[in-house]
Amino acid sequence: MSLLREIRFRLNGSPVRVSVPVTMSTLDLLREELGLTGTKYGCGEGECGACTILMDGVSVNACLMFAVDCEGRSITTIEGIAEDPANDELRHTMVRHGGVQCGFCTPGMVVQTKALLDGNPHPNRNEIQRGLEGNLCRCTGYKKIVDAVADLAGTTE
Ligand code: FES
Ligand code: FES
Repeated sequence: MSLLREIRFRLNGSPVRVSVPVTMSTLDLLREELGLTGTKYGCGEGECGACTILMDGVSVNACLMFAVDCEGRSITTIEGIAEDPANDELRHTMVRHGGVQCGFCTPGMVVQTKALLDGNPHPNRNEIQRGLEGNLCRCTGYKKIVDAVADLAGTTE
C-alpha cells in the first residue's frame, strides 16, 4: 500500500485539497483523481509533450512530476486555458489556421503555445519552432500550428 500525503494547491484558479499516494504522478492526479482528461498521456517519459501543463506559469511535463510536487503551486491545465476568455484569440487563431489537429497532441501544443507567448509575445519563426520542439505530432503536421502561433505573435518573417 502506498503512503498517502495531503496536498493543497490551486488548480485552474480554484483551491484543491486532496490526499495522494506519494508515488502518484501529477498526470495521474489530474486525469484519474480529478477528472481533467484534457491533459493527455502519450509517452509517460517526458518525450512527447502531450501532458504539458503550467506550474506557476511555467510549462512542465505532468508525467514527470509527482503529484506531491503540486503542493502550494498554481497549476493550469488545458481546461483552465479553454475556460479563460483571455485566451479566446489563442483558441480562435489555432482553429482558423487548422492548427487544432488531433485531440492527442493539441492540448499540449496549446498549453505550450500559451507558455511561449506569455514569455515572449513576439517570437520569430525559429523561436516558435524551438519553443514547440518538445511537443511531438506523430503525423508531423507542424506547419499549421507554427502558422497559427506566428499569426498570434504578429511574426512576418
Ligand atoms: S506523456 Fe508526458 S511527455 Fe509524453
Ligand atoms: S495531429 Fe496530433 S499527433 Fe499529429
